[in-house]
Amino acid sequence: MKPLFFSLLFVSLLAFKEAGTEQDFVRENFSYAKQQLDLMLKDAESQKKLSFPRTINAGGKMVSTNMYDWTPGFFPGSLWYLYEYTKDKTLSAEATAWTEKLEPLKTFTGHHDLGFMMYCSYGNAYRLTGNPAYRNVLIQAARSLSTRFSPVTGSIKSWNVFKSWHGNTTYNYPVIVDNMMNLELLFFASKATGDTSFRHVAVTHALTAMKNQVRPDYSTYHVVCYDTATGKVVGRETAQGYADNSTWARGQAWAIYGFTMVYRETKDPRFLKTAMGLAEWYIYHKNLPADMIPYWDFNALEPGYTPGERSNALKVKDKPRDASAAAITASALLELSGYAGIKGNAYKQAAEKMLHSLGSAAYRAPVGSNGNFLLMHCVGSIPHNSEIDVPLVYADYYYLEALTRYRDLPGKK
Ligand code: GLY
Repeated sequence: MKPLFFSLLFVSLLAFKEAGTEQDFVRENFSYAKQQLDLMLKDAESQKKLSFPRTINAGGKMVSTNMYDWTPGFFPGSLWYLYEYTKDKTLSAEATAWTEKLEPLKTFTGHHDLGFMMYCSYGNAYRLTGNPAYRNVLIQAARSLSTRFSPVTGSIKSWNVFKSWHGNTTYNYPVIVDNMMNLELLFFASKATGDTSFRHVAVTHALTAMKNQVRPDYSTYHVVCYDTATGKVVGRETAQGYADNSTWARGQAWAIYGFTMVYRETKDPRFLKTAMGLAEWYIYHKNLPADMIPYWDFNALEPGYTPGERSNALKVKDKPRDASAAAITASALLELSGYAGIKGNAYKQAAEKMLHSLGSAAYRAPVGSNGNFLLMHCVGSIPHNSEIDVPLVYADYYYLEALTRYRDLPGKK
């Protein structure tokens, strides 16, 4: 009995030490994030009242956007995650102020990104404060997003128009894989109101994406275009990836996260199978570097993949990494690990590796540098020659979310 008792004690102590070490890793990252975001708050407040941090310019200065771009919710959302960890009241006041600037968006119907814009800001605000006014804003935003759904295509229209990188073709019902992320707002509204029409839109969109956007090998198309009259697919192309038949790293990340979230909300095993297929395609891919931070596209510069003639991807002869895709994937895998049974451990270990790479000096900027963003080496869109090897506000948001999920994993308290 005695040797068994001592071995068990030893194993328990090791596990305790391991958990302690990982909690130290999370703590150190949040303490670092607090320093950077305090600096960013000062910088952001000195800019125009209604502009929202997004990236930096060539001179290293912050570039912000107006609220109608797709990214204004991420800075308030990052402040909410930082508040959640630190419980610092100044941060909740800042997060509140930055969130409430976005209220006019509740009636915005100009593109599909309302989920990102409102759920990352108001969604976290409501989760952490329970303020009923925030719930109402979210419900109105879900109504606005639903106006972009067509029962003919079975999808929410992403952009009003998409101009192909080939020739002069334009499409007027493009749906991008990123759109899976916006469905979380609809599930929220359904639960908050009891109105199942929001949920119907979300589930129909996810089933359509599962059929048309996910390839048989579980890689993804970026843009699927529909005929509005018949609902038929009329094009499968890329907007931000290398080639139509390639896999854009952030697109795959959105898909893993999106289908995992839809499984959480529906418990439909088809969505779990899809999420696991997408995740395994990504984490076991031969082109994923050893540090698990992907190149911006899994097939960049590979034979058999050709950018459209107007795409700037034709001119880029190296393969920048995209830390934003890694942050989104790490967060998604941490959730998926809880649904995946025996495979969950491999997903958790992959996420852990991604987080440690992102938290290393190779990707995490020194305090006071990088325009006060946290992560370096992200890619916005190489085909558009825009935001190449820069920080991006959404990389920071999903990094903080992933760290929060990591802290909250069973056995990590
Ligand atoms: N949703 C736009 C992007 O990922 O760049």
